[in-house]
Amino acid sequence: MKILFIGDIVGEPGRRAVKEILPRLRRAHQMDLVIANGENSAGGSGITPATAQEIFGAGVDIITTGDHLWDQKEVMGLLQNESRLLRPLNYPQGTPGQGSVVYQANNQPPVAIINLQGRTFMPDLDNPFTTVRAEVERLRQKTNIIFVDFHAEATSEKAAIGRMLDGQVSAVIGTHTHVQTADEQIFPGGTAFLSDAGFTGPHDSVIGREIEPIIRRFLTLQPQRFTVAEKGIKLQGALVEIDTHTGHALKIERISERLD
Ligand SMILES: [Fe+2]
Ligand SMILES: [Fe+2]
Repeated sequence: MKILFIGDIVGEPGRRAVKEILPRLRRAHQMDLVIANGENSAGGSGITPATAQEIFGAGVDIITTGDHLWDQKEVMGLLQNESRLLRPLNYPQGTPGQGSVVYQANNQPPVAIINLQGRTFMPDLDNPFTTVRAEVERLRQKTNIIFVDFHAEATSEKAAIGRMLDGQVSAVIGTHTHVQTADEQIFPGGTAFLSDAGFTGPHDSVIGREIEPIIRRFLTLQPQRFTVAEKGIKLQGALVEIDTHTGHALKIERISERLD
């Protein structure tokens, strides 16, 4: 089966990229499941019920998130009612929402999706390594096709979790830095890996935002309004092909498609 993962959707330009590019990717690759990180989909920060609906409407099956989860207060309704939305699994016990889901694609075996957040240069959540290990063990009772979005800053933390889960999950794809890395590979145990999927939105920017205010911020250390940029729109992510009998990855391909 083929799973498309879409890196962080940033603001309206990112949502437009999904709406316009996803149908053409679906035709070209016959995907069984589409997962997208939506943590920046509402004006560049957070996610709302309306932006989530727009993303689902464009053909995304499951939305993952990350550290920007809480930026829009309407997210609470989504966390309580939307089973297709995930938040990082390693938030403290009692946090609303869910960190994993088992999805049944058409005529395909079930797929478990896990959303996880790193701790290096990020808020101090529960240990993602111990948390994911227990969750994978639990989910493997139901399916051996498991897809992990690891939302983290440090490449070392991402590589380490990928190596730890090698052979236990189908894919570990990183998000959060908004910069697509060129290290896609299949580890010896059969787990597809990519440190970062990149982001979906305006690339004539500093990771999705207008360039000048960001430079001013670094020059002056004074607060600036970071508006979402407009130009150079791309959809970025990765396409993973999985052997449904073993749960191992057969192929991983980086995706970077320009909206013209
Ligand atoms: Fe993030
Ligand atoms: Fe992001």
